[in-house]
Amino acid sequence: MDDLKAKYLGQIADAQDEDALEAIRLAAVGKKGEVALKMRELGKMTPEERQTVGPALNALKDEINSALVAKKAALADAALDERLRTEWLDVTLPTRPQRQGSLHPISQASEELTAIFAELGFSVAEGSRIETDWYNFDALNIPGHHPARAEMDTFYMHRAEGDDRPPHVLRTHTSPVQIQSMEKMGAPLRVICPGGVYRADYDQTHTPMFHQVEGLALDKDISMANLKWVLEEFVKSFFEVDDVELRFRASHFPFTEPSAEVDIRCSWDNGQLKIGEGDDWMEILGSGMVHPKVIAAGGIDPDVYQGFAFGIGIDRLAMLKYGIPDLRAFFDSDLRWLRHYGFSCLDVPALHGGLSR
Ligand code: PHE
Repeated sequence: MDDLKAKYLGQIADAQDEDALEAIRLAAVGKKGEVALKMRELGKMTPEERQTVGPALNALKDEINSALVAKKAALADAALDERLRTEWLDVTLPTRPQRQGSLHPISQASEELTAIFAELGFSVAEGSRIETDWYNFDALNIPGHHPARAEMDTFYMHRAEGDDRPPHVLRTHTSPVQIQSMEKMGAPLRVICPGGVYRADYDQTHTPMFHQVEGLALDKDISMANLKWVLEEFVKSFFEVDDVELRFRASHFPFTEPSAEVDIRCSWDNGQLKIGEGDDWMEILGSGMVHPKVIAAGGIDPDVYQGFAFGIGIDRLAMLKYGIPDLRAFFDSDLRWLRHYGFSCLDVPALHGGLSR
């Protein structure tokens, strides 16, 4: 019995893992283990022998069992210690500069212009990139036969066979949010809506997906003069200069009357784009006084309320401000480009701190 005890306690002490322990348990105190076999021999013994050997065997079994339990706990502790030693992370270390992400110039420009319009009392609304025909066109005084539908190079969504409702569209401008904002907020109202829009067009200054910020201000006494002031203030703040030359050109949109397109003075010398100088003009926005039919479509009485609206190309603004000559590169996801033109995520634009510093 002493031999058995020495043998199994020794094996338990040497066991390296739980599987080894289980094998020892089966060999020693399992149903067909050595201790069980010895117990079976009790039957052949005299009652006197049985009285001493029986309790001794039981004590041996208990001793082996407790050694197994103790060793199992010790192995688990050791495994945990080993994990704690190898799996650690110093959360006080600085982030690794080579893995730092950056803000895309479009995101940066959107945050900057949102900060400016917020100062001017505009709230922010978000529309949906997939729109109904009604919000994208009809409600904006662009009926089915209107040439503006064709001019916009619209992407139409697929309708199931036999469903003859007008198809949904990828919104061609942010103007649908004018109607939705009027429906939600009523008048008076000052709101901007920045977001992505889609048109089938592709060259140095056009991509099939681009970004606009819509602006809408409605009240009882808003005029074209207010529009002009707001746009000039905006452009000066955005480009962080005292004066920027803007050109208001009479234009036509079905949803504004009168309408004006606004260009900004710039130069394109040797492929370098600069603002505020040179003999070129870059169109950055469309605007005008909101058409009474559009105000009515938004559920507001056009005999009481009037106002202005504008739609600015955010990508164009970013090109001009950061001197980026080709719009297509914005959406190529080229890491070298993103590292060069990206902005630190920790510099939140605010007017008091200098917008883009
Ligand atoms: N929605 C017009 C466009 O995308 C821009 C615009 C908006 C014009 C608001 C006037 C008023 O071209």
